[in-house]
Amino acid sequence: MAEAGDETLAWHDGLLLGYGPMDGVHQEFVQCLSALQQAADADLPAALDALEAHVLAHFGEEDRWMEETGFPARECHVNEHAAVLASLRGVKQRLAQGDAAVCRRLALELARWFPGHADYLDSALAHWMCKQRLGGKPVVVRRDIGRRRTPSDNARSLDR
Ligand SMILES: [Fe+2]
Ligand SMILES: [Fe+2]
Repeated sequence: MAEAGDETLAWHDGLLLGYGPMDGVHQEFVQCLSALQQAADADLPAALDALEAHVLAHFGEEDRWMEETGFPARECHVNEHAAVLASLRGVKQRLAQGDAAVCRRLALELARWFPGHADYLDSALAHWMCKQRLGGKPVVVRRDIGRRRTPSDNARSLDR
């Protein structure tokens, strides 16, 4: 079935960015995507619909945060959201014509894409939102402290 079988995205604390509203939405994204990755063929349309609804709210909220707070250099982030949404909608049409394989490829690509997007684009926004809304930098408490450090960990420790 899923060629993505051993690359199913699962939540782990390494994905936490320290801005609560965003971390909650990111956990939902991982749930929706892993449901899509694990769905039987007959359940793919419903799982893809659920992911689309999630992504609309998720990306829409981040785009709105960037707009409302005047986040610098938001274009690249907004464009990446739009590109993902466009791909998802294209795949939705092909799935409606019976192409389950293209849906599974999309799920795999999203599982590979999300950690990098979160690490490079969302983490900068999380940092910014903490400063805007909370007056400080994000504090991330991770349970799996033995995990490899990520580039954003390094960035955060440099600017302390
Ligand atoms: Fe995000
Ligand atoms: Fe994002």
